[in-house]
Amino acid sequence: MSRLPGTALRQSRGLWTSVNTARPAFRNTLLSSTRHASSSSPQHAQSFLTSRASLAAFSCLTVGSIAWYTQLYGTLPFIGEVSANSPAEDGLHPVAYPWSHKGWFDSFDHASIRRGYQVYREVCAACHSLDRIAWRNLVGVSHTVDEVKAMAEEIEYEDGPDAEGQMFQRPGKLSDYMPPPYPNEEAARAGNAGALPPDLSLIIKARHGGADYVFSLLTGYFDPPAGVQIREGMNYNPYFPGGAISMARVLFDGVVEYADGTPATTSQMAKDVVTFLNWAAEPEHDERKQIGIKAVIIFSSLFALSIYLKRHKWTTIKSRKIIYNPPN
Ligand code: HEC
Repeated sequence: MSRLPGTALRQSRGLWTSVNTARPAFRNTLLSSTRHASSSSPQHAQSFLTSRASLAAFSCLTVGSIAWYTQLYGTLPFIGEVSANSPAEDGLHPVAYPWSHKGWFDSFDHASIRRGYQVYREVCAACHSLDRIAWRNLVGVSHTVDEVKAMAEEIEYEDGPDAEGQMFQRPGKLSDYMPPPYPNEEAARAGNAGALPPDLSLIIKARHGGADYVFSLLTGYFDPPAGVQIREGMNYNPYFPGGAISMARVLFDGVVEYADGTPATTSQMAKDVVTFLNWAAEPEHDERKQIGIKAVIIFSSLFALSIYLKRHKWTTIKSRKIIYNPPN
C-alpha cells in the first residue's frame, strides 16, 4: 500500500464503477474527476464500444460473415437443410460402419491398405484413375521399397524428349504417378457407355458419407424393387443418388486372391479397398492424429502451468490488505 499513491485507489474505484454503470453521463463525470494521463485510454475504449459507428461496423461484419458462409456452404450449420427430395433421389443414407481407423487414437489398418491396393489394382484400375498417388507414396505404408520399385517397373511410361527430340518408353520409377486406365476423359466415357468413372484419389472426401457411402455402394447392388424401372445398361443401387448407376457390380466373392490368406468375400474386399481409398484421400491421417495427441498433451500442460504461474505471480497482489491511515 505504501508504494501506491492515494489517487491510484480512487482512480481504480472510478474505473470499476464506470464499467458497471449504464449511465454514460454519470460515468464521464466520475472519470473526469480523477483524470490522469493513464486514465484516458479506457475512456476512449468505452466510447468506441458504445458508438453508433462501431454498432454499424459490427452489424455489417455479422451480416457479411453469414452471407459469406451461406454462399460457401449453402446453409448455416445450425439450420437443418430443407429438401423436397425423396430418399430415392438423394440415395439411401449409408450405415455408419465401425472403421478401425475411426477413433481419435486409431491409425489405419495397414494390412488392410495393402489388400485394398490389390483390389484397386486388379479390379478398379481397369476403369478408375488414381491421379494423386505416386508409387513412392506406397513405400512404408503398404509395401516395401523393393516391392514398389518392382511394381512400378512393370508399367511403361512415356518420357522424353531424348537427345534426338524423340519421346521414348521407359519402365516406371518410384516418382511416377499411378497410370490412368484411359488416355483422356473422352476415351473413358466412350469405354463406359457415356459415364465417366471418377478419379478415386479423393473420392472418400468427395462424397457425402465418405467411407461408409463407398462401402455401401460397392456392396449395395440389388434387383430393382417392383415398380422401379432401370434403363438398359444401368444398374440398380439404392445408395447411389437416383438409384441407377452405370457402374455394374464389380466385387464378387473370390474375385481376387489375397496373399495373406484373408478370405476374399465381397464385403472383405469392399472394406479393404475403401480403407485403401481412405488412405489415398488422407495420407497424412496417422501422422495428423499422432501430432494432434501430442499437441493436446503439450498445450494442456502448458495451459495448466500458465494458470499456476499466473496465480503464483499475483498472490502478493491478490492477498494483500489495503489500509489507509489518515495523517493526523
Ligand atoms: C467397368 C468399369 C468400372 C470398374 C471396374 C469400376 N468402376 Fe467405379 N465407376 C464406373 C463408372 C462408369 C462410374 C460412373 C457411374 C455413374 O456416374 O453413373 C463409376 C463410379 C464410381 C464411384 C462414384 C459413385 C458416385 O457417387 O459418383 C465410385 C466411388 C466407384 N466407382 C468406385 C469403384 C471401386 C472402388 C471400384 C473397384 C472395386 C470400381 N469403382 C470399379 C466404372 C467402373
